[in-house]
Amino acid sequence: MDLMVIGGGGREHAIIRKLRENPAVETIWCLPGNGGIAADAECVSIAARDIDGIAAFAESHRVDFAVVAQDDPLALGCVDRLHALGIPCFGPDAKAARIESSKVFAKNLMKKYGIPTAAYETFDDPAAALDYVGTAPLPLVVKADGLALGKGVLICETREAAEKAVRDIMEDRVFGASGSRIVVEEFLTGPEVSVLSFTDGSYIVPMVSSMDHKRSGDGDTGLNTGGMGTVAPNPFYTPEIAKVCMKKIFLPTVRAMAIEGCPFKGCLYFGLMLTPDGPKVIEYNCRFGDPETQVVLPLLKTDLLTVMRACEEGTLRSLPVEWHDGAAACVILASGGYPVAYEKGKEISIPGDLPENVTVYHAGDKLSDGKLLTSGGRVLGVTAAAADLPAALADAYAAAERIHFDGAFMRRDIGRRALAVLEG
Ligand code: AMP
Ligand code: GLY
Repeated sequence: MDLMVIGGGGREHAIIRKLRENPAVETIWCLPGNGGIAADAECVSIAARDIDGIAAFAESHRVDFAVVAQDDPLALGCVDRLHALGIPCFGPDAKAARIESSKVFAKNLMKKYGIPTAAYETFDDPAAALDYVGTAPLPLVVKADGLALGKGVLICETREAAEKAVRDIMEDRVFGASGSRIVVEEFLTGPEVSVLSFTDGSYIVPMVSSMDHKRSGDGDTGLNTGGMGTVAPNPFYTPEIAKVCMKKIFLPTVRAMAIEGCPFKGCLYFGLMLTPDGPKVIEYNCRFGDPETQVVLPLLKTDLLTVMRACEEGTLRSLPVEWHDGAAACVILASGGYPVAYEKGKEISIPGDLPENVTVYHAGDKLSDGKLLTSGGRVLGVTAAAADLPAALADAYAAAERIHFDGAFMRRDIGRRALAVLEG
């Protein structure tokens, strides 16, 4: 079988490595891919947003199965286009992808179906939004409606900050067109958990839980990033909490999407907060998380392509999905200055003798004259799988220490909160 994966980051690298485990897989095309992915797939320089280019490539290369891994092609209808060509895909169509691409859609869905989430109001008129934030209880969370590279969320402790957030997003459009509508919601507290799931539109299989570390600095300080590291499983997510989530969040969400006429097929990502009032949805994503995928997929025992095809074909119910025991940890090596300004083009050196349980997923690099050069903010995700979380963290950090490029930095405390829970 010849596969096509759309995207070019660490998540896509982790997906490709896992797909490679299936002996029936021949060529994997990755559009656009990156320098490190080129060791595991045929990278093609077609951008993930170029739906015409992707469709033409898939047709001319007779792709047997496509995995659309990134949010913007999903929102732009990449799966709809490939389906129209008769190409089976893993990923939701554009209508179902609204669960991520429109926060207003997601919030209204949760309200209509009684799925626990932060209380909220939506606005398309800045004056009405300003009136509301003038009196609503603080702190307030102001969110742009559309995709904003994970940056369209502002947590406001004061009225002045909330008013500025409304003006910045709706009037000055600091997050572009995604700010024509906003959601203003209550501030929730509690540990965050990411639960990715496989779903075929009616049946849902949650994956091993994980924990992201979104801030750039140790101790959860500094700016928000795309994610500086992950661990799986997430020890805050107990079997009891998992049961509640299945009943009150996961199943109702899948049912709601089907009833609304947009059944969700693919990876549905639940960003949860375990509040004193129980688990609540902070956000949905219509795709695998990055860097959650880098710690979740190494723990998957069942063949990934088989699971993905069952999601597409609607046969997930009859497929047992199994996981390895143990834990995984991923430490992101980022370019100095990320997430603000950073230099690119630094040569990367990775030792050839890293231990077998360590995998380096490439996120932001390119090949130039046979050399690997940095080309993004998050450059590498150094991942280890081991018998338990302390061992996985130790192995990931030991490997990360041996990888070099000018200006590289990593958080030193990935997994620290998880370890504290495990140690009781
Ligand atoms: P989102 O893009 O919606 O996941 O928001 C990004 C981050 O902002 C989340 O991972 C949370 O840490 C934080 N956040 C979002 N909404 C809320 C909320 N209602 N209460 C507290 N924190 C929030
Ligand atoms: N790591 C969070 C996300 O993928 O959106």
